[in-house]
Amino acid sequence: MEELGCAPQAARSRRSRRGFFQAGILGLGAAIAAALGLPALAYLLTPPKSGQQDAWIEIGELNKFAAGAPLEVAFRRNRTDAWKVVSEKDTAWVVKRADGGVTAFGPQCTHLGCAYHWDDGRQQFLCPCHSSLFRIDGSVISGPAPRPLDRYETKVENGKLMLGRLETLSERRA
Ligand code: FES
Repeated sequence: MEELGCAPQAARSRRSRRGFFQAGILGLGAAIAAALGLPALAYLLTPPKSGQQDAWIEIGELNKFAAGAPLEVAFRRNRTDAWKVVSEKDTAWVVKRADGGVTAFGPQCTHLGCAYHWDDGRQQFLCPCHSSLFRIDGSVISGPAPRPLDRYETKVENGKLMLGRLETLSERRA
């Protein structure tokens, strides 16, 4: 008789222990889901920074450039790509004009992106890939290049030349 009386109580005790463990497992599952899901949600909802560059890069004293003699200068620029900051080497062809103004061209030919150079004898920029020729002001003389050389934004601060964004002709007109 005693055994029969204890059976319902034991069953109730097992049920309450099972309920406790089930609640604990559900709570643990919810905590793990929150720990994994919230950072993933923040990752998905935060817009990545794509291709943002340092605004202005200091190139050097303006008076180190001779008027009418294009000079290729190398510099490093930081670019933020999503959550990564990448330091990239770049170059520009800097042309100081007789009036003291300055223009800086992107280093790639506007046809298919080859590196061009200044030809002292011809007094022209020459692309060796498909023979495009550009004047000292970046305009096209001949060849397949479809537009003038791209230009960096420039400014002079305290006698130092600074380069900004590289712009195509259409961006400059906009
Ligand atoms: S890449 Fe310069 S002419 Fe074709």
